[in-house]
Amino acid sequence: MRVLSGIQPSGRLHIGNYFGAMRQHLRMQAEHECFYFIADYHALTSGPSPQAVAEYTLGVAMDYMALGLDTDKTVFWRQSDMPEVTELTWLLSCITPMGLLQKCVSYKDKIAQGLSPNHGLFAYPVLQAADILIFQSDLVPVGADQKQHIELTRDVALRFNNTYGEVFKLPADHIVESVAVVPGVDGRKMSKSYGNTIEIFEPEKSIKSKVMKIVTDSTPVESPKDPDKCNVFALLKLFAAPEELAQWDQRYRAGGMGYGEAKKRLAELIVEFFRPYRQKRAELENNPAAVDAMLKKGAERARAVAAPTLLAARKAVGLGEQR
Ligand code: ADP
Ligand code: TRP
Repeated sequence: MRVLSGIQPSGRLHIGNYFGAMRQHLRMQAEHECFYFIADYHALTSGPSPQAVAEYTLGVAMDYMALGLDTDKTVFWRQSDMPEVTELTWLLSCITPMGLLQKCVSYKDKIAQGLSPNHGLFAYPVLQAADILIFQSDLVPVGADQKQHIELTRDVALRFNNTYGEVFKLPADHIVESVAVVPGVDGRKMSKSYGNTIEIFEPEKSIKSKVMKIVTDSTPVESPKDPDKCNVFALLKLFAAPEELAQWDQRYRAGGMGYGEAKKRLAELIVEFFRPYRQKRAELENNPAAVDAMLKKGAERARAVAAPTLLAARKAVGLGEQR
């Protein structure tokens, strides 16, 4: 099966991204033909500085490579190194009803968060549809928040095929069974936009101090505590082995345990979990030119697959040579 997914370079990747998306992407490499890209065109919709776009794009690439993305097997590239996708976006735009885009909640959410309502932000799902359709993808692993965009992609593909003849395969979504939502240090969903993240590769010391600041309630040390209502426990679930987790569960319920103790152990576990990948991350960081070169190579492979679809779509709508 051909699997495709994009990752926005909108900041440094965090533990929520890891358990909600990256881990699944990396695991799928074993069984599928995977196409993963860094969605830098999409990132432009929220008005980042040029420095931020460039820095985060390279950072996301390094994070994925350090954590086990196999660039020999998986096709991995920077979206903007394959500008064909923007041409397909135009072809799709011309058959996408305004009403479909107006229904998209992610646009409304982003406006509510204070982003400026530019046309790129509104048309974001059409670019995403082009990303998916240009590769004739079978499966698109995404978080639940992206389900609507995959539905729109199928809708647009169907309209195109019905109007101009069969060009696109209709993709299935594959909602990543995220370990629920990973909470941030303030207890809200961990998200770059809330500034409450623990980054995968931030200095170990800083991971520790962030964990110690995770918000907990004010139940006194001696009283029993409900693990299911605790942000620290929610994170322990991701990192502790089942036997250890069961012990923490008991200790919470028994009382006589302070949150500080659980936090200390959580910090250790997080640091241990990502430690094996730090060395590789540091090597990549010291050689950004090699990372760039790998992305460029990935883009060439991606273009070879995408070009025939774009040609078929152009021809179908009557552009260019028709023979
Ligand atoms: P952010 O909210 O930090 O900007 P993105 O929206 O770029 O993150 O998300 C990238 C991927 O990571 C998506 O598939 C999303 O579902 C997943 N993800 C992000 N934050 C979390 C979280 N706190 N818990 C689970 N999954 C998450
Ligand atoms: N919109 C996706 C997100 O924010 C990123 C993305 C862009 C994507 N193009 C894609 C995901 C194509 C899957 C397929 O997470």
